[in-house]
Amino acid sequence: MSRNPMVVRTVPALRRALDGLRTRRATIALVPTMGALHDGHVSLVRQARRRAQKIIVSIFVNPAQFAPTEDFGSYPRTWNADVAKLAAEKVDLIWNPDVKAMYPDGFATRIVPEGPAAAGLEDRFRPHFFGGVATVVGKLFTQCRPDVAVFGEKDFQQLRVVTQMARDLDLGVRVIGSRTVRERDGLAMSSRNVYLSAEQRLTAPTLYRVMKESAKQLKAGDDFANVMAAGRELIARAGFVPDYFEARHAETLAPVASMREGPVRILVAAKLGETRLIDNIAV
Ligand code: PAF
Repeated sequence: MSRNPMVVRTVPALRRALDGLRTRRATIALVPTMGALHDGHVSLVRQARRRAQKIIVSIFVNPAQFAPTEDFGSYPRTWNADVAKLAAEKVDLIWNPDVKAMYPDGFATRIVPEGPAAAGLEDRFRPHFFGGVATVVGKLFTQCRPDVAVFGEKDFQQLRVVTQMARDLDLGVRVIGSRTVRERDGLAMSSRNVYLSAEQRLTAPTLYRVMKESAKQLKAGDDFANVMAAGRELIARAGFVPDYFEARHAETLAPVASMREGPVRILVAAKLGETRLIDNIAV
């Protein structure tokens, strides 16, 4: 049986725990999460394990990245199952602050990311989101002082934003992107997939199928504008309300109109009923 990881909930307790972890100069990897862990998170932990000797997983549902109309209150919280998964992966420490520990009374500082955070993708539909993510990830980095931090490629714009922030603010953390883990039918794993009805769950993999087909056409030299318009149409016909379906430069996230302008990434966000799904693939 695996031993449960140490759980800390206050900044002073975290400092003491870090002193313990850092003995003999052990390297530390951080995997930031909001809990409701699935196999995608497990693969981030395994990626972290390959990069460092000690693993910290943070579990904090960050109110600052949800708009008042979004699902902060109902976001899935599965503490016992999360701890069991992290124990099985032999994670060393779970950093689980409550909102007051992360944002004490009088908290008044916010990181406002630009560049990839203003690419006109997620930021267009969730204007509050990257400020909230950058602020909490900036805090997680300074609290845990990891050598490496692992983020999923599924939130591709987020990955670019935190990579840029770590570089711009000299946070001394190497940000690593980890491949998206998919269900057998191609649906990207996400904590929010539990919101899908049985019928919506059957439709959801359409996003991946359309992205793959569009990627094939882009690589074959078809006109970018036509391919992306046709892909968006297919997604809408399947029952989604697309926010965006776009081909972008994989690093700058700038719009691209040919393979020569690449590396190219297709990114999509679409609502299926009340559930908003995002995904992306390399072309
Ligand atoms: O991707 C997530 O789960 C969150 O946005 C993160 C990076 C943990 C910040 O709250």
